[in-house]
Amino acid sequence: MARFHQTSNERETPKKKITREGFKRLLRLFSFVRPQRNVFILGLFFLLLSSLTTLIFPMLIGDLLDSATKGTMESINRIGIILLAVFAATAVFSYFRIYLFAIVTQKTLALLRQTTYNHLIKLPMVFFSSRRVGELNSRISADIALLQETFTTTLAQFIRQIVIIIGGITLLTIISPRLTLFMLAFVPVVAIIARIFGTYIRKISKKTQDKVAESNTIVEETLQAITNVKAFANEAFEIFRYKKKTDEVIDIALKGAKYRGLFISFIFFAMFGSITGVIWYGVYLVNQGEGMTSGDLFKFVLYTVFIAGSISGMADLYSQIQKAIGATENLMDILDENPEPIEISSTKTKQCCTGEVKFQNVSFAYPSRKDMIVLKDISFSVNKGEQVALVGPSGAGKSTVTQLLLRFYDPVSGEIKIDSKNIKDFDLGELRGNMAIVPQEVLLFGGTIRENIEYGKPGATEEEIIKAAKQANAWEFINTFPEGLETFVGERGVQLSGGQRQRIAIARAILKDPAILILDEATSSLDSESERLVQEALQKLMEGRTSIIIAHRLSTIHNADKIIVIDKGEVKESGTHEELISLEDGIYKNLSSLQIDLMG
Ligand SMILES: Nc1ncnc2c1ncn2[C@@H]1O[C@H](COP(=O)(O)OP(=O)(O)OP(=O)(O)O)[C@@H](O)[C@H]1O
Ligand SMILES: [Mg+2]
Repeated sequence: MARFHQTSNERETPKKKITREGFKRLLRLFSFVRPQRNVFILGLFFLLLSSLTTLIFPMLIGDLLDSATKGTMESINRIGIILLAVFAATAVFSYFRIYLFAIVTQKTLALLRQTTYNHLIKLPMVFFSSRRVGELNSRISADIALLQETFTTTLAQFIRQIVIIIGGITLLTIISPRLTLFMLAFVPVVAIIARIFGTYIRKISKKTQDKVAESNTIVEETLQAITNVKAFANEAFEIFRYKKKTDEVIDIALKGAKYRGLFISFIFFAMFGSITGVIWYGVYLVNQGEGMTSGDLFKFVLYTVFIAGSISGMADLYSQIQKAIGATENLMDILDENPEPIEISSTKTKQCCTGEVKFQNVSFAYPSRKDMIVLKDISFSVNKGEQVALVGPSGAGKSTVTQLLLRFYDPVSGEIKIDSKNIKDFDLGELRGNMAIVPQEVLLFGGTIRENIEYGKPGATEEEIIKAAKQANAWEFINTFPEGLETFVGERGVQLSGGQRQRIAIARAILKDPAILILDEATSSLDSESERLVQEALQKLMEGRTSIIIAHRLSTIHNADKIIVIDKGEVKESGTHEELISLEDGIYKNLSSLQIDLMG
């Protein structure tokens, strides 16, 4: 039961103070714009033009009004035509501005997405094991969406408003310096106060909504779990809880209403008051014959409204920019993580080694839990083509051994060697390219069976894929599907049974043809018939290559060349089945007699 209702607040990108550091990172974002800079500059140019034509419009309207008293028919028509031309020009400029900015935005974002993804996928396992992947994913997409907004709207608005404020004030000064000073004394202040006020009210009304949602959660929860409520005779408790929340709604909603009332009164008084003030003073100046016409006054009022709008809009932009800085910081944090040295090349991986594996005094602790030693002084060796089984209780460190071999993590001390060469000296792609792992929980990709098998060797031919499927004992069931290899497996492969998924994973490993094969409890979730099929497939797969098998069911590893018993991170016993079974009071002996007992 989700007792604690998650408010929408928690999912939003946090705002960041605009600091120098934050601003620098925002500027770093512009390195992603660089390839598009010519289009960007052209877009800026059109933005500038459309802002300027917006500024011409009040001027012309004022002139038009003046020609009512002083103008000729001809001048009236001329101004009308110019006005039309200005509108047409604004329309054309706006079109190009929007389209050009969209090009810049989309290409920049694609580059940013690709760069982040390329980087992310190369980050070491340490990075992923200390983060929740779902969160990471939604974080990145939310951040990029926010930046998209910043690029398409915020940036354009920002420049536009700057142009209007500066251009507007300049024009006003030309019309009448005295009236401009008079206006500047209070209009900007009122505009800013109005915006801050408005933001505050929005916050309160959001809080009200959150509280309402919380109280709804109580109803939902208690009705869903009504048997619990009744069985525990907790009606009174729930009634009290609900009353408390709904009473809180009243408090906060009334607080909001009070401010909203004040806001409306303020707007009414201050906004209209200041405009009236400007008109009053303007009319006074016209009346005194200070060189101003009534058309000028009209221009003045229009510009004042434009400027006030732009100033209050700037406050909104400020908070947008704060959010954008928060979003870039998240992305830059990811980009600043050190990736693994993986060469991205399309060439096929070379055969790196014959597959002789040696662990020498390896100790290890996971970076996220540094003081818990998971492996202590582990030493063992596997000759080329041998099959070695790792057994031991849950949590002993068996899977960890395989993760070290794949170099997901590096040992704290000791060395892991393949063909007498430290695995750190191998190219990472080459090393992993020569290993294949069949995990216990096979997660397939959402595509077709063919795509999932082909993943072992991208570009494999039809024959190779079918051959691998046959060797994995998978071809039989694939053939029973009407679509055969083209059958969709569903998200994560849910449309296949566990055993079918495993055989697909085995086919994938066969296709990869690795020097070293790792099987982590590959047959644990199967019935005996499927297990026989999978065992058979595995047997074929293991032939001639070094195999490391992790098994709970000891019956599957009797034939292994060597069995290594790991307990609490240490190698406790090692030898063949016969050797271990003859050890007096050995762990292996006890485990296997226990399993034989269980099977009856
Ligand atoms: N990513 C990780 N971060 C921190 N500790 C981990 C991580 N993965 C495993 N461990 C810890 O390391 C120890 C060994 O885990 P490991 O997965 O190797 O056990 P196992 O022998 O494979 O067990 P099982 O038979 O249950 O699969 C456990 O105590 C586990 O809690
Ligand atoms: Mg394990």
